[in-house]
Amino acid sequence: MTRCRICSGPVREFLDLGRQPRSDAFLPPGELDGEFFFRLAVGVCGDCGMAQLTEPVPAEAMFHREYPYRTSQSARMSEHFARTARRLMKSVRDRPDPFVVEVGCNDGGILPTLARAGVRHLGVDPSGRAAGEAAGRGARVLTAFFDKASAAEIRSAEGPADLVFSANTVSHVPDLASVFAGADLLLAPDGRMVFEDPYLADVLARTAFDQVIDEHVYLFTAASVREAARRFGFELIAVEPLDVHGGQLRFTVARPGRHPVGGTVAEALRREERTVPALDGFAARVERARDELVTLLRTLRDDGRSVVGYGATAKSATVTNYCGIGPDLLPFICDSTPAKQGLVTPGTHIPVRPPAAFADPYPDFALLFAWNHAEEIMAKEHAFGAAGGRWIRYVPDVRIV
Ligand code: TMP
Ligand code: ZN
Repeated sequence: MTRCRICSGPVREFLDLGRQPRSDAFLPPGELDGEFFFRLAVGVCGDCGMAQLTEPVPAEAMFHREYPYRTSQSARMSEHFARTARRLMKSVRDRPDPFVVEVGCNDGGILPTLARAGVRHLGVDPSGRAAGEAAGRGARVLTAFFDKASAAEIRSAEGPADLVFSANTVSHVPDLASVFAGADLLLAPDGRMVFEDPYLADVLARTAFDQVIDEHVYLFTAASVREAARRFGFELIAVEPLDVHGGQLRFTVARPGRHPVGGTVAEALRREERTVPALDGFAARVERARDELVTLLRTLRDDGRSVVGYGATAKSATVTNYCGIGPDLLPFICDSTPAKQGLVTPGTHIPVRPPAAFADPYPDFALLFAWNHAEEIMAKEHAFGAAGGRWIRYVPDVRIV
C-alpha cells in the first residue's frame, strides 16, 4: 500500500500506465543505453483526496540544467502569461514598491511583462539554461529549486514578497510541504501565492490520460489543494478554471483569515462532488483509447498511408510508451523546440525533427500530441489541411478531424 505524500493516508491506485521513461529525457540517437525507467501509476488518497503518482520520482534528475521544455514555444501561452502578469500587477498596485516572485519561471513566464512595467520581481528556476533565456528577456532570475533555503535567501536579500506566482510547477514538486514552507518564509503577512496546474476533473472528463507523466506528481482538485493548504498553514481563498494546457485550475492561497474566501471555492467543491465518481471506469476508458489509437495507426500503415507526429510533448512519452508506438508506426515527430530536434523520444526512440520536415512532403495524417495547442497549431499549419492532410486526435477520444 502506497502512503500519501501529504498526509500518509492510504493511496488507492486508479490508473497504471506501465513502464515509462522520464518524459522529457530526449536522447541522442547514438546513446540509447542506460535509459531510466519506472512504473507510472496514479492513485488517490483515501484521507485527504490528493491524486498523486504512486512511485517516487526524484525531482533533481528531471529539472536539470538542460531541461528542454520552453514556455515561449507557444504564442498562446506567451499571451496567457502576459495577460496574467497584467492582472497580477493590478492586484498588488496598492502596495508600496510591490515585489513578485515567479517559481519555475522557465524562459520567462510572467516576468518579461513585469520587467517592462518596472515591477520589482525575481524568477526562481533550477534549469540554468532556461533561466538564462529568461534573463535574456529582461527578467531577474535565480537558478535554484524553490524551497525553505532559497526562500530564506531571497527574503533576506530582497525583503518579503507580496505575491508568489507559479505555473505548471507546484504540482511537479514531490515535497509539496517545502513549497508552502518556502512561501511562508517569503511572503509578507497578507501576501498571496497563486499557482496554476492541470485539473484532475478535466483529466477525467476528457480522458486525458497523457496528463499523467513523471513531472505531474500531483493532479490537483480544489478539494485536495484546500486540504493540503490547510495542513501547511494556508487557506485556499479562490480558484479559477483556465482553458490552457488541456484544462487547469488557478489556485490562490493566503495565510488563514487574511483575505475573504471567495465563492469560487465552494462552487468548485460542489462541482467536484459530481466529478470524482468518474475515477471508476477511467482506466477502462484509457485502455479503449489505446486500443483504438493503435488499431487506427496500424490500419493506416497497412493501407500505405503516411502518418507523422506533431509536438514532441512530455505527454507524448506517456502515449507512445503506453501504446507501444515506435518509429514503425510513426517515423518522426516534428517539434519547434531547438533543444529537442535531432534527438529521439524517450523510451520509444522516435526521431524529433524541426517543423520544416512536416511539409517535406506533407504526410497523409498527423497525430496531434500537442492537442492543448490545437487551435494555434492547426491555424499555423492550415496549408496541411488545404493539401488534403488530416489530423488525428486522441483526446477526448480517438478520431480523425
Ligand atoms: P506542451 O503541450 O507541454 O506545452 O508541449 C508542446 C510541445 O509542442 C513543445 O515541445 C513545443 C511543441 N510545439 C510545436 O512544435 N509547435 C507549436 O506550434 C507549438 C504551440 C508547440
Ligand atoms: Zn493524503
